[in-house]
Amino acid sequence: MKVLEKNAIEVLKSNWRESFSIPCANLYPFQWFWDSGLIAIGFAHFDMPKAEKEIETLLDAQWANGFIPHIIFHTETDTYFPGADFHRSDLHPDSSKKYRSTGMTQPPVTGFVLQEIYRISQDKKATLNFIKKVIDKVYDNHDYFYKNRDPHNEGLVYIYHNWESGTDNSPIWDDIWDTMNSPEYTFERRDTTHVDASQRPSKREYDHYLYIIDIAKDHNYDDQKIAELSPFLVQDPLFNAMLIKSNQSLIELYKLIGGNIDKVNQLKSWQDKSIPKFNEKLFDEELGAYVHYDLRNERPLRFVSSSSFSPLFANIPSKERAKTLVETMMSKFGNENQYLCASFDPTNERFNPKKYWRGPVWVNLNWMLYNGLKQNGFNDIAERVKKDTIELIEKNGFYEYFDSRKEMHENGKGGYGGNNFSWSAALLIDLLNQ
Ligand code: DGY
Repeated sequence: MKVLEKNAIEVLKSNWRESFSIPCANLYPFQWFWDSGLIAIGFAHFDMPKAEKEIETLLDAQWANGFIPHIIFHTETDTYFPGADFHRSDLHPDSSKKYRSTGMTQPPVTGFVLQEIYRISQDKKATLNFIKKVIDKVYDNHDYFYKNRDPHNEGLVYIYHNWESGTDNSPIWDDIWDTMNSPEYTFERRDTTHVDASQRPSKREYDHYLYIIDIAKDHNYDDQKIAELSPFLVQDPLFNAMLIKSNQSLIELYKLIGGNIDKVNQLKSWQDKSIPKFNEKLFDEELGAYVHYDLRNERPLRFVSSSSFSPLFANIPSKERAKTLVETMMSKFGNENQYLCASFDPTNERFNPKKYWRGPVWVNLNWMLYNGLKQNGFNDIAERVKKDTIELIEKNGFYEYFDSRKEMHENGKGGYGGNNFSWSAALLIDLLNQ
């Protein structure tokens, strides 16, 4: 086994906390939804019981309406802001009585993660038994989305907070902050005591983040009220691509376990509606890429980001469109002075390769891109994404994000945000074994 893989295993072991993983020490001391899913893929390679436990704990925090929160506050700590006392998940009548959490969610990766765990498993029968135990909860989560997050019945679900997107500080949200008149909050940031402030969102951005939560809390996190009133209401291509990818995985997994015909039919009918609408509404012909749609202000947000390419992973684009997408990616992001794949368009003036989601390369998006490119037959570019990812980690360590500019990696200081970051380690293990 390579040294790098051994080190990655050490990172995962050190971030394990009895029944779940933290994304990294200090900066993120609880369980995060999409982190957990992606971390389980890494564990599946060397410790299947932990991979299963990770998912079981996540699903144990599911609400009675199928919703899965973005952070589960397993412990009390004042090293993270905003914590459980700010989020007040108890306001929602369906929230978990066992765990305190946020009242927002994150990209629904769990369906495809179950399929990845099955792919990796050396004991398929035992893994299918595990899948049988948890699959209906994942289905209920999808049902929640289509019932509560799709007000126009389009097959596309909305997110109501930038933290739901996973791409928390993307420059795309700047256009939404411009429409808001958030109050100035007084609070003590914790993230900037762990990480250099130049790599994190600004105080003004945090005001917006808190204000959206306050509006939702004023209505006890009621989905209908949020759809009516939240100033942030976006159809996000990454989020919807994850849901579509997970729908497909659930269809295949239900078939494998001799599953429920009604659920398979429902999943198929979601796909039949979602995929064409995704292609019709979220593709920008002029940019040659998928973009976000601002449902509150009824306008597309016309920026290219790594999220624009994530539909490849869910097999959403036609063959011809996939080609256009890859051409856009290579012309804007693929310059040989850049590592693939910056999180935001390096040719745009809002690009900042040092700051949280405003430009750096992320391992989770690279892992999706690698798989998406391969599925669509772009093997050479997929290999470049894999090689770039490994090189970034080799040169810097298991950081949360990396400068996309090659010249910044001469001295091993091109990694930013949290260090010993779980999904960077987990997905590297998977890449090394593919
Ligand atoms: C943070 O604190 O920035 C988290 O990523 C929110 O999910």
